[in-house]
Amino acid sequence: MNHQDYLVDSYGRRLSYLRLSLTELCNFRCIYCMPEEGVPVVPPSKYLTRDEILRFTKIIGRLGVHRIRLTGGEPLLREDILDIVRALKSIETVKELSLTTNASRLGPLVNSLKEAGLDRINISLDSLDPERFKEITLKDVYYEVLDATFSALRAGFPVKLNMVVLKGISDEEILEFAKMAYDFPLDVRFLEFMPLCGTGWKPEWVLPIEHVRQVIHQHFELTEEKNRKDDVAQNYMIHGGKGKIGLIASLTESFCDQCSRIRLSADGSLYPCLFSDKEVSVKDLLRSHASDEAIIEAIRYAASIKPKGNWFYENKFNEKESPIEQLQSHPMIRSIGG
Ligand code: 5AD
Ligand code: SF4
Repeated sequence: MNHQDYLVDSYGRRLSYLRLSLTELCNFRCIYCMPEEGVPVVPPSKYLTRDEILRFTKIIGRLGVHRIRLTGGEPLLREDILDIVRALKSIETVKELSLTTNASRLGPLVNSLKEAGLDRINISLDSLDPERFKEITLKDVYYEVLDATFSALRAGFPVKLNMVVLKGISDEEILEFAKMAYDFPLDVRFLEFMPLCGTGWKPEWVLPIEHVRQVIHQHFELTEEKNRKDDVAQNYMIHGGKGKIGLIASLTESFCDQCSRIRLSADGSLYPCLFSDKEVSVKDLLRSHASDEAIIEAIRYAASIKPKGNWFYENKFNEKESPIEQLQSHPMIRSIGG
């Protein structure tokens, strides 16, 4: 592939990673994500079909987008999930296919997903206490999720556990989560609570990632992995442990300059950045059987309007007044879950 064919944004970042939302529906109601009654979502009848997703992925693959992550909502609610995985995996340019899931339905599907060719799984797990799990997700399925996590490991998947750290709610579990990475061959990643959707977000629940780093450092010996290219997490080896630790600070320590991502929503819009409401629809092009070139043009346009960084990055979050004050007056992000 020629260098000039790559998808590059106007700041010189090469985009190589597509987050593909398969549905906006979710069977959880995580308190930090949406209200109990849910949020208005685009209905499944408007979603891209498997064949449309397939065609789009082939085309963007020609621009060097080799890593695909399936997200939602909850992607395992898509009934054709196995077909989608199998079809995507048969595309030559797809070098890595991964899934982000709440794992409530993962257990029974895990072996089929492996057979269909899925490469990796990220599981959202916000508490290791069954009662608190229920308070956060409003679903009483802690043990299903934990069992599915171990089934995924047994099936041979590289597994990452994503924990959104909520101050005053789950921050006392930081060490227990770190211990999971010590005891088991999986990566535990701590996520700073970002203002997604605007519905469940509360500034007082934000715990800066530096606090997480300090708590873990006090109890475990960590060695930072140096080569962070293409990864939003700061990764650490945990001395004597089987897994790793990752820290993802989306607010206080921006990683925008490493960003290689572009997102496609379930209803076929490209979003060049999670923190921006700019979108470029490719659905009509796909539905009207537009040429590959027309679709490539739309993709290149979406890349060209990718912002340099998120609002927090641009505003040097750390250096002004208190984080909470800044957070109260910032723009919200349009996204559900993944
Ligand atoms: N802040 C940080 N992470 C979030 N996630 C969902 N909403 C938020 C938020 N407001 C996480 C999910 C999942 C991943 C896709 O994003 O828990 O792990
Ligand atoms: Fe569903 Fe994920 Fe939102 Fe929780 S965070 S309600 S699992 S989309």
